[in-house]
Amino acid sequence: MDYEIGNDIEKVLIDAPAIKVRLAELGKQIAADYTGKELLMVGILRGAAVFYADLARLIPLPLHMNFMAVSSYGQGSESSGAVRIYYDLNEDIKGRDVLIVEDIVDTGLTLKYLSETLSARKPASLKTCCLLDKPARRKVDFTPDYIGFTVPDEFIIGYGIDYAEMYRNLPYIGVLKRTVYEK
Ligand code: PRP
Repeated sequence: MDYEIGNDIEKVLIDAPAIKVRLAELGKQIAADYTGKELLMVGILRGAAVFYADLARLIPLPLHMNFMAVSSYGQGSESSGAVRIYYDLNEDIKGRDVLIVEDIVDTGLTLKYLSETLSARKPASLKTCCLLDKPARRKVDFTPDYIGFTVPDEFIIGYGIDYAEMYRNLPYIGVLKRTVYEK
Protein backbone atom coordinates (compact mmCIF):
# COMPACT_ATOMS: atom_id res chain seq x y z
CA MET A 1 0.00 0.00 0.00
CA ASP A 2 1.57 3.30 -1.07
CA TYR A 3 -0.20 5.28 1.68
CA GLU A 4 1.51 5.84 4.99
CA ILE A 5 -1.65 5.56 7.08
CA GLY A 6 -2.38 2.44 5.03
CA ASN A 7 -0.50 0.58 7.76
CA ASP A 8 -3.59 0.88 9.95
CA ILE A 9 -5.82 -0.71 7.34
CA GLU A 10 -6.90 -4.34 7.65
CA LYS A 11 -8.17 -4.52 4.08
CA VAL A 12 -9.55 -2.46 1.23
CA LEU A 13 -13.29 -3.05 1.01
CA ILE A 14 -14.12 -0.85 -2.00
CA ASP A 15 -11.27 0.51 -4.09
CA ALA A 16 -11.19 3.90 -5.83
CA PRO A 17 -12.07 2.60 -9.34
CA ALA A 18 -15.12 0.74 -7.95
CA ILE A 19 -16.27 3.89 -6.14
CA LYS A 20 -15.92 5.85 -9.38
CA VAL A 21 -18.01 3.36 -11.36
CA ARG A 22 -20.80 3.26 -8.76
CA LEU A 23 -20.90 7.05 -8.41
CA ALA A 24 -21.31 7.43 -12.17
CA GLU A 25 -24.32 5.10 -11.98
CA LEU A 26 -25.81 7.00 -9.03
CA GLY A 27 -25.24 10.34 -10.77
CA LYS A 28 -27.03 9.07 -13.85
CA GLN A 29 -29.96 7.75 -11.85
CA ILE A 30 -30.33 10.96 -9.83
CA ALA A 31 -30.07 13.10 -12.98
CA ALA A 32 -32.82 11.04 -14.62
CA ASP A 33 -35.06 11.29 -11.55
CA TYR A 34 -34.63 15.07 -11.19
CA THR A 35 -34.79 16.11 -14.84
CA GLY A 36 -36.68 19.40 -15.15
CA LYS A 37 -36.21 20.16 -11.45
CA GLU A 38 -33.76 22.34 -9.56
CA LEU A 39 -32.10 20.06 -7.10
CA LEU A 40 -30.89 21.21 -3.69
CA MET A 41 -28.19 18.84 -2.49
CA VAL A 42 -27.73 18.99 1.27
CA GLY A 43 -24.45 17.42 2.34
CA ILE A 44 -24.08 16.30 5.94
CA LEU A 45 -20.69 17.32 7.26
CA ARG A 46 -18.21 16.08 7.81
CA GLY A 47 -18.38 12.48 6.66
CA ALA A 48 -20.25 13.13 3.40
CA ALA A 49 -17.86 15.83 2.12
CA VAL A 50 -15.78 13.61 -0.17
CA PHE A 51 -18.74 11.63 -1.55
CA TYR A 52 -20.76 14.82 -2.00
CA ALA A 53 -18.08 16.62 -4.00
CA ASP A 54 -17.55 13.67 -6.33
CA LEU A 55 -21.26 12.89 -6.76
CA ALA A 56 -22.33 16.49 -7.45
CA ARG A 57 -19.93 16.65 -10.38
CA LEU A 58 -21.63 13.63 -11.94
CA ILE A 59 -25.11 15.16 -11.95
CA PRO A 60 -25.45 17.34 -15.05
CA LEU A 61 -28.46 19.35 -13.82
CA PRO A 62 -29.06 22.83 -12.37
CA LEU A 63 -28.06 22.16 -8.80
CA HIS A 64 -27.71 24.11 -5.58
CA MET A 65 -25.26 23.06 -2.89
CA ASN A 66 -25.74 23.48 0.83
CA PHE A 67 -24.59 21.79 3.99
CA MET A 68 -25.50 20.87 7.52
CA ALA A 69 -23.25 19.58 10.26
CA VAL A 70 -24.53 17.00 12.69
CA SER A 71 -22.92 14.57 15.01
CA SER A 72 -23.97 11.45 16.81
CA TYR A 73 -20.70 9.72 17.58
CA GLY A 74 -18.25 12.07 19.28
CA GLN A 75 -14.70 10.72 19.23
CA GLY A 76 -15.44 7.07 19.84
CA SER A 77 -16.64 4.24 17.66
CA GLU A 78 -20.10 3.70 19.18
CA SER A 79 -23.15 5.86 18.55
CA SER A 80 -24.40 7.73 21.60
CA GLY A 81 -27.86 7.71 20.07
CA ALA A 82 -28.17 11.48 20.29
CA VAL A 83 -28.19 13.58 17.11
CA ARG A 84 -27.05 17.19 17.38
CA ILE A 85 -27.24 19.87 14.70
CA TYR A 86 -24.05 21.94 14.88
CA TYR A 87 -24.69 23.92 11.72
CA ASP A 88 -28.14 24.27 10.17
CA LEU A 89 -29.17 25.24 6.64
CA ASN A 90 -29.00 28.98 6.06
CA GLU A 91 -31.89 29.01 3.59
CA ASP A 92 -35.56 28.12 3.45
CA ILE A 93 -36.27 24.77 1.81
CA LYS A 94 -40.04 25.20 1.52
CA GLY A 95 -41.14 24.05 -1.95
CA ARG A 96 -37.64 22.87 -2.90
CA ASP A 97 -36.53 19.48 -4.19
CA VAL A 98 -34.11 18.39 -1.50
CA LEU A 99 -31.68 15.49 -1.57
CA ILE A 100 -29.84 14.72 1.67
CA VAL A 101 -26.39 13.28 0.97
CA GLU A 102 -24.76 11.16 3.67
CA ASP A 103 -21.73 8.92 3.83
CA ILE A 104 -23.14 6.05 5.90
CA VAL A 105 -26.35 4.86 7.46
CA ASP A 106 -25.57 2.76 10.47
CA THR A 107 -28.16 2.76 13.28
CA GLY A 108 -30.31 5.00 11.05
CA LEU A 109 -30.76 7.55 13.85
CA THR A 110 -29.05 10.42 12.02
CA LEU A 111 -30.89 10.09 8.73
CA LYS A 112 -34.24 9.40 10.35
CA TYR A 113 -33.85 12.50 12.50
CA LEU A 114 -32.68 14.64 9.59
CA SER A 115 -35.47 13.41 7.31
CA GLU A 116 -38.10 14.23 9.91
CA THR A 117 -36.55 17.61 10.71
CA LEU A 118 -36.26 18.70 7.06
CA SER A 119 -39.68 17.25 6.14
CA ALA A 120 -41.27 19.53 8.72
CA ARG A 121 -39.94 22.50 6.72
CA LYS A 122 -42.26 21.50 3.83
CA PRO A 123 -39.94 20.85 0.89
CA ALA A 124 -41.64 19.87 -2.42
CA SER A 125 -39.75 16.58 -2.18
CA LEU A 126 -37.20 15.05 0.15
CA LYS A 127 -34.99 12.07 -0.63
CA THR A 128 -31.85 10.61 0.87
CA CYS A 129 -28.70 9.38 -0.82
CA CYS A 130 -26.17 7.40 1.14
CA LEU A 131 -22.84 6.06 -0.06
CA LEU A 132 -22.81 3.13 2.36
CA ASP A 133 -25.59 1.18 4.01
CA LYS A 134 -24.78 -1.04 6.99
CA PRO A 135 -28.16 -2.73 7.63
CA ALA A 136 -26.80 -5.09 10.33
CA ARG A 137 -26.48 -2.12 12.72
CA ARG A 138 -29.94 -0.62 12.24
CA LYS A 139 -31.79 0.46 15.39
CA VAL A 140 -34.60 2.37 13.72
CA ASP A 141 -36.44 1.58 10.52
CA PHE A 142 -34.84 3.62 7.75
CA THR A 143 -33.98 2.93 4.10
CA PRO A 144 -32.24 5.58 1.97
CA ASP A 145 -33.69 6.25 -1.49
CA TYR A 146 -30.29 5.90 -3.15
CA ILE A 147 -27.57 3.58 -1.83
CA GLY A 148 -24.03 3.30 -3.18
CA PHE A 149 -22.97 0.06 -1.54
CA THR A 150 -24.28 -2.25 1.16
CA VAL A 151 -21.45 -3.06 3.56
CA PRO A 152 -20.91 -5.68 6.27
CA ASP A 153 -20.70 -4.84 9.97
CA GLU A 154 -17.00 -3.98 10.02
CA PHE A 155 -15.09 -0.91 11.21
CA ILE A 156 -15.14 1.19 8.07
CA ILE A 157 -12.98 4.22 7.35
CA GLY A 158 -11.86 6.27 4.35
CA TYR A 159 -13.41 8.31 1.54
CA GLY A 160 -14.78 10.80 4.08
CA ILE A 161 -15.37 8.40 6.96
CA ASP A 162 -13.19 8.79 10.04
CA TYR A 163 -12.06 7.09 13.16
CA ALA A 164 -11.21 9.76 15.77
CA GLU A 165 -10.99 12.32 12.91
CA MET A 166 -8.37 10.35 10.98
CA TYR A 167 -8.50 8.49 7.64
CA ARG A 168 -11.10 10.73 5.95
CA ASN A 169 -8.63 11.44 3.12
CA LEU A 170 -8.10 7.81 2.13
CA PRO A 171 -9.15 7.51 -1.53
CA TYR A 172 -10.78 4.10 -0.90
CA ILE A 173 -13.09 2.52 1.68
CA GLY A 174 -11.25 0.23 4.03
CA VAL A 175 -11.57 -1.73 7.24
CA LEU A 176 -9.57 -0.47 10.21
CA LYS A 177 -7.26 -2.85 12.05
CA ARG A 178 -8.67 -3.88 15.41
CA THR A 179 -5.39 -2.97 17.10
CA VAL A 180 -5.94 0.69 16.16
CA TYR A 181 -9.25 1.15 17.99
CA GLU A 182 -8.65 -1.33 20.77
CA LYS A 183 -5.41 0.21 22.00
C1 PRP B 1 -21.58 9.44 11.08
C2 PRP B 1 -22.05 9.46 9.64
C3 PRP B 1 -23.54 9.64 9.76
C4 PRP B 1 -23.86 8.91 11.04
C5 PRP B 1 -24.42 7.56 10.72
O1 PRP B 1 -21.41 10.75 11.47
O2 PRP B 1 -21.47 10.51 8.90
O3 PRP B 1 -23.89 11.01 9.88
O4 PRP B 1 -22.64 8.81 11.78
O5 PRP B 1 -24.69 6.85 11.88
P1 PRP B 1 -26.14 6.47 12.39
O6 PRP B 1 -26.88 5.86 11.23
O7 PRP B 1 -25.84 5.47 13.47
O8 PRP B 1 -26.81 7.69 12.92
P2 PRP B 1 -20.56 11.25 12.72
O9 PRP B 1 -21.48 11.59 13.82
O10 PRP B 1 -19.46 10.26 12.98
O11 PRP B 1 -19.96 12.62 12.21
P3 PRP B 1 -19.06 12.97 10.93
O12 PRP B 1 -19.97 12.93 9.72
O13 PRP B 1 -18.57 14.35 11.21
O14 PRP B 1 -17.94 11.97 10.83
